[in-house]
Amino acid sequence: MEQKLIGLLLGDEEDWPSAFEMLAERLKKPLKYRRKNFQIEVDRIRIHPFNLRDSTRYDLVIDRLAYWHFNPREWLKKTALINNVYLLNNPFSFQSMEKHSAYCAMIRLGLNIPETILVPSKIGPDSTKYPATSAKYHDLFDLTEVAKELKYPFYMKPFDGGGWRGVSKVRDEAELARTYDESGQMLMHLQAGLEDYEVFVRSLAIGPQVSSFHYDPEQPPHGRYVIDHQFLDQQKGREAQIITKTINAFFRWDFNSCECILKDGILSPIDFANACPDIAVTSLHYYFPWAIKALMAWSIYCVVSERSMRITMDIEKYFKIADSDRSYEEKLAAYEKMADKHFETKRFEEFRGTVLKDLDEIMWELVQTEEFNQMIAQTVRGMFPEHEHDEFIAHFQGLLKHWVDSENF
Ligand SMILES: Nc1ncnc2c1ncn2[C@@H]1O[C@H](COP(=O)(O)OP(=O)(O)OP(=O)(O)O)[C@@H](O)[C@H]1O
Ligand SMILES: [Mg+2]
Repeated sequence: MEQKLIGLLLGDEEDWPSAFEMLAERLKKPLKYRRKNFQIEVDRIRIHPFNLRDSTRYDLVIDRLAYWHFNPREWLKKTALINNVYLLNNPFSFQSMEKHSAYCAMIRLGLNIPETILVPSKIGPDSTKYPATSAKYHDLFDLTEVAKELKYPFYMKPFDGGGWRGVSKVRDEAELARTYDESGQMLMHLQAGLEDYEVFVRSLAIGPQVSSFHYDPEQPPHGRYVIDHQFLDQQKGREAQIITKTINAFFRWDFNSCECILKDGILSPIDFANACPDIAVTSLHYYFPWAIKALMAWSIYCVVSERSMRITMDIEKYFKIADSDRSYEEKLAAYEKMADKHFETKRFEEFRGTVLKDLDEIMWELVQTEEFNQMIAQTVRGMFPEHEHDEFIAHFQGLLKHWVDSENF
């Protein structure tokens, strides 16, 4: 029996990790793959001072910290480079390819990224030398003139970003001046706003598994994912999924979300560098079981098939297609082929349908347990004010019950 250890590198969240552990517990019987038996274990990682040559017990790490914190990020890089650990996500490309680079790369691939302008930060770094240095390469500029390339309202948001930090809708020149003053040391983009759109779609992707959800950013966080199965026609639904898969294969991201806005029949990706995105039960509710199953399936596939971590990117192959005279649709088809090759989609699907054929039913049973309901209750108690506890516990348990009823076993 070969043991494979999945490590969780977590922030303050308890909900999805508990659900993931409960599911792993129920999958305890050995998995048979290519005449070998595997035992999957899950464990929460703690980071101590480490020697760069240290070995590790982990085969794969699902990480929710590295985008924000240095120590876990550097530990992860060590485990990839020294110990061949498979990482969800790739900290190397997330560090070098933040929002800005991701916009540039996807513009080059021909995706419909809204017009985006980078402006120097309002205030430079705290260094006595900065004014002299800055004068060597910055000219004074008129922000109102620069913004004339875009129509009001547009968005001002950090070139790296995450969690809506520093994102503002700018409605007129006065607001532009004020928002820019407030942006301080952050390096900002001005981005054309897609208003009065047909639909906002957020696709969640884990390996080759992509699900696109109707999303309403105007709602408070617990109400943004809308339960709606018919909000995109089949063609646009496919397009949203191919775009997401392409972005993730291109950047070597295994766990990411991609936000697209459909306006006047054009699907525009606006935010798609979201390392290890939020999958809290209070955000995803009805779709939460999908995410937990997808995370489990891809993690198990990677460790059992001994898929190796793809640290480096393969940009030139994509650019070759991008720079050809193929149409947008032909390019997407070619990118999808490359993405499926990268994610071993066919092989994974076969694995999911055979080795992991029980996973759907096990999750379905798990969601109906008292243990799962307690996890929801505890999450709500940690997040909402006391007078809302009963209401929201019933709300989320009700949505999960709705999911149970809609799955047929
Ligand atoms: N170009 C745009 N057109 C229309 N709406 C936009 C645009 N850019 C951003 N927004 C709105 O602002 C929200 C936050 O922006 P964005 O997603 O880029 O920031 P973020 O910090 O990466 O958010 P998160 O990481 O939480 O997804 C979006 O969900 C969307 O509602
Ligand atoms: Mg976003």
